[in-house]
Amino acid sequence: MNHLNIVNFVGLQNFIMMKKRIFLSVLLILLSLPFVMAQGPEVVIPVPAEVSVNKGTYRFRKNPKIRMVEVAEDSIPSESYRLEIHRRKGITITFSDSAGRYYALQTLNQMSADGAIRELQCCEIYDCPRFPYRGLHFDVSRHFRSVDFLKKQMDAMAMFKMNRMHIHLTDAAGWRMQIDAYPRLTQFAAWRPQHTWKEWWAGDRHYADEGAPDSYGGYYTKDELRDLVSYARARHIEIIPEIEMPSHSEEVLAAYPELGCSGEAYKDSDFCVGNEEVFRFLETVLDEVMEVFPSEYIHIGGDEAGKQHWKTCPKCQQRMQEEGLKDVDELQSYMIKRIARYVESKGRKVIGWDEILDGGLAEGAAVMSWRGTEGGIAAMEMGHDVVMSPGRYCYLDHAQDAPFKEPESIGGYLPLDSVYVYEPVEASMPADRIHHLKGVQANLWSEYIVTDAHAEYMYWPRAIAIAETAWSLPENKDLKGFRQRVLRMLERLRADGYSTFDLQNEYGERREALAVAEHLAKGCKVIYGKPVQQWYPASGETTFTDGIMGGWTYSDGKWQGFLSDIDVTIDLGSVKPVQYVGGTFMQLKGPGVFMPRQIEILVSEDGVDYETIALIENDVPTSAEELTFRSFDTSCDIRARYVRYHAFRSIMRGFLFLDEIVVK
Ligand code: ACM
Repeated sequence: MNHLNIVNFVGLQNFIMMKKRIFLSVLLILLSLPFVMAQGPEVVIPVPAEVSVNKGTYRFRKNPKIRMVEVAEDSIPSESYRLEIHRRKGITITFSDSAGRYYALQTLNQMSADGAIRELQCCEIYDCPRFPYRGLHFDVSRHFRSVDFLKKQMDAMAMFKMNRMHIHLTDAAGWRMQIDAYPRLTQFAAWRPQHTWKEWWAGDRHYADEGAPDSYGGYYTKDELRDLVSYARARHIEIIPEIEMPSHSEEVLAAYPELGCSGEAYKDSDFCVGNEEVFRFLETVLDEVMEVFPSEYIHIGGDEAGKQHWKTCPKCQQRMQEEGLKDVDELQSYMIKRIARYVESKGRKVIGWDEILDGGLAEGAAVMSWRGTEGGIAAMEMGHDVVMSPGRYCYLDHAQDAPFKEPESIGGYLPLDSVYVYEPVEASMPADRIHHLKGVQANLWSEYIVTDAHAEYMYWPRAIAIAETAWSLPENKDLKGFRQRVLRMLERLRADGYSTFDLQNEYGERREALAVAEHLAKGCKVIYGKPVQQWYPASGETTFTDGIMGGWTYSDGKWQGFLSDIDVTIDLGSVKPVQYVGGTFMQLKGPGVFMPRQIEILVSEDGVDYETIALIENDVPTSAEELTFRSFDTSCDIRARYVRYHAFRSIMRGFLFLDEIVVK
């Protein structure tokens, strides 16, 4: 039966508990919209499913009455709503659950700019989410963040209808949750002598006692976390806690060394899977985690385990023998399956990074696909639920603009547009398994992100792009319109005290990468003297002569990578006058990308006798930390059919990356 109530808008505002500083926000928005009399659904993010704009406007009074109509789920699904704005009848919201009602109010709140816009365009909106999981990830291990910070991010998440906050509570850089049975996790493993992760990582990676002079870190008490959970619940957000296993666990093994294969502090990063005590530890920790967090999913990590010590550890070897496990992947799978069964016995489910597929995945476990989407697709084919979070589109730790103008980051380049264009449904996904694709999540790893302001800057606006991808239908998405809507929304976020990226003054992609270069070698065959490194093939053997220059990051598919010299010969097809030969390399010390130490350029008319026309020495110091590009080129006045370009690898023995060999 329908039930209908009339709700006072001011009361609802309190219910929404949207961000303060409305005053400033109102002022800013009014100033920026001097000629806009009525505002309508065109401003809403994520873009609603169906919109019809009607004639006339509705005067939005101070205390407008809103008709609230609750209906059964078969007429309006969960989280969905209908919002009608009529000139005379006013505002009607129809919903089947509290989330739908909440999201309708978010939409109304966006259209009215939190009450600042007095004339609303008459319209009807029907809205429903594309995916049930719309997530944002918080790495509070590398740098601890306050409860207030997390609440503030939830306010923004809720505004954009995001509904999962994944908190990475444990990792080498610090354990962050009070666990009563294992107090050293927070009395010791939550603190370190160095403030920044970078200094800590470059040092001896030790921990410190809570309260020791200058110790840095922190943890959440259970009371704080319960408060956070209830704050989240009021915003229809579920918090998914992550407890890492079997790896990324150096901090646990420093506090409780008996849980590692060596039994010594500062030796292991993986738990010893042969040790029953480890399972007692993990089960006890998970009990305490589940007591605080009511989430459907408990995240158990599972990524990047080295598994080295397991190969020689007598306990691990014994476990493998007893359980008939043929390799260390199966040993990891044994642990994950056992923990998954345990979590399931408590009425919950596990989710883990895609490495939990290695060695076989536990029934009922869900996969968060980060190393691309292949793992997620494989998991869907096996009947597992999947959240897509591929690094290429969803890793907000990459720089969002030209690296020379951005704060320090892990590197790479992931601007707003590249996040926005991500389409989670791929042609290779079997149609009968698409229902296993539960949604999308953006991740922000925080190794280089020391301050709250920097973290906010990395989230906003890119998290909004993920919100729209996760909520809106792909046919309703439109990059140009999205950017317009985001610009308006960023003003509001800034007025509400968020430190956001300045989209208005975005520099954008490396200029050289924006246009195809025309030159003599374009389209010519390239003969490789040494093979390309398998992870960075770019477009294969046409890369150096396709006219396409690389962008800000070596992983953009335009730079070809080598872990050797580069020795290639271009066949121009016939003998031609040549006046210039050159190629551009990049250096990025962090991930081990260096300039060549020397370039030799040779030419030949017959492909047999070669003449060296240039020897170019590198002058970029290998110690230079920042991203650097340098062209190694020569002007000449010769005739040639074959041009050999030989780049000698740096003594640092890192990667060489080259995008194009230009011949003029
Ligand atoms: C991950 O980025 N290691 C999940």
